[in-house]
Amino acid sequence: MSENKIAIIYGSDTGITDYITTLLTNKLNLKNLDIIEVFTIKPIDFLKYDIILIGVPTWYVGDLQSDWEDFFPDFQKIDFNGIKVAFFGLGDQYGYPDNFVDGIGILGKVVLNNGGEIFGYWPNEGYEFNDSLGLAPNGMFYGLAIDEDNQQEHTEERIDKWVKQIKNELGL
Ligand SMILES: Cc1cc2nc3c(=O)[nH]c(=O)nc-3n(C[C@H](O)[C@H](O)[C@H](O)COP(=O)(O)O)c2cc1C
Repeated sequence: MSENKIAIIYGSDTGITDYITTLLTNKLNLKNLDIIEVFTIKPIDFLKYDIILIGVPTWYVGDLQSDWEDFFPDFQKIDFNGIKVAFFGLGDQYGYPDNFVDGIGILGKVVLNNGGEIFGYWPNEGYEFNDSLGLAPNGMFYGLAIDEDNQQEHTEERIDKWVKQIKNELGL
């Protein structure tokens, strides 16, 4: 499947998602991977890709990171038919236990409503929180949940496991 066009599209307010994107990129080790910050992209650019990994931290108690928030009206108009999308979400489970990684759910629902396919669902074991819009109806997170505020020690192993999982799901 080396002909697939793949992108990571992400937003980051304080640089943590930016850092995680770099880690993820190194571990993915793919030749044809574009890395794009969401504030630089137009909705039509999403259509260039077969596979998109979306990085989104949750901010302001259950809201999207500011660049994703600005982009959200356009995001809702994207036709995701034929595009496979995976999420990685940053959050703080102890600081915001009722809204842990809400962002991946806010964007994930749009992708599904607009015809996209989500891969890379992630189990919610190993986290402590009360509620999250990031949980899909199947009980799993819409994507990889990373908590650099409280569980830095798990980040690398989580990324390694998720990379293996998504490469497997994609047959890469
Ligand atoms: C004011 C503020 C509000 C936040 N709100 C949430 C939230 O509702 N849910 C959550 O899981 N994390 C929340 N966080 C934690 C961030 O998502 C987390 O620190 C993340 O790593 C930041 O990523 P970034 O540096 O890429 O923006 C919040 C952090 C701050 C400072």
